[in-house]
Amino acid sequence: MPRSPLIAPSLLSADFARLAEEAQRVADADWLHFDVMDAHFVPNLTFGLPVMQAVQAVSPVPLDCHLMIEGPERWAPGYAEAGARNVTVHAEACTGDPRAVARDLRAAGSLAGLALKPSTPLEEYLDVLPAFDTLLVMTVEPGFGGQRFIAETLPKVRRARELVDTGHLTLLVEVDGGINADTIEQAAAAGADVFVAGSAVYGADDPARAIAGLRAQAAAARQR
Ligand code: DX5
Ligand code: ZN
Repeated sequence: MPRSPLIAPSLLSADFARLAEEAQRVADADWLHFDVMDAHFVPNLTFGLPVMQAVQAVSPVPLDCHLMIEGPERWAPGYAEAGARNVTVHAEACTGDPRAVARDLRAAGSLAGLALKPSTPLEEYLDVLPAFDTLLVMTVEPGFGGQRFIAETLPKVRRARELVDTGHLTLLVEVDGGINADTIEQAAAAGADVFVAGSAVYGADDPARAIAGLRAQAAAARQR
């Protein structure tokens, strides 16, 4: 299946005092990744819906909201209603059937994403994944930017790719955490479609060049 890689810079590594300008600096990205953390599901606190709405109003690229929060059933649809392209909830945080959240997200107009922490097996969620449009395989423990890529998560990416390529699932496979020039090729070769990169993009002198470089690396690695 021909698919061009999508690059999603994470605003977590941007300057929070200048979010509008920081969104503009990655105007040639595919999605802008927006990490919502609640200090309960993960030991960090970032921003929520009001900030997302403000960024949504000025962002040149669609928002990809990654909710690292408890009670995603309650909060996730608000991000879809606010105009997010994709809203991802953590499987580990869902108290009921994750398919209900997926349905609410799609009804509110966004894609529905399911995220798995590094130690969460894919096999436990095979029944619910047909309800989702994206699968976010965390390649670090959620909570902070700038961590080291965990290569042990790659078999999960490969398995998801296989399920998509054999027609068992229809979704985009997304990787998040520690993605940079040294690791993106492994993730791309394993079959990821969407690449979140925080420090590798916002930590670069020229974010636009960093995005182009990552995209080229991912595209080349997928063709090998
Ligand atoms: C971590 C977040 C990531 C983070 C990635 O919990 O979900 O999106 O911004 O940052 P880097 O690319 O620096 O690992
Ligand atoms: Zn994220």
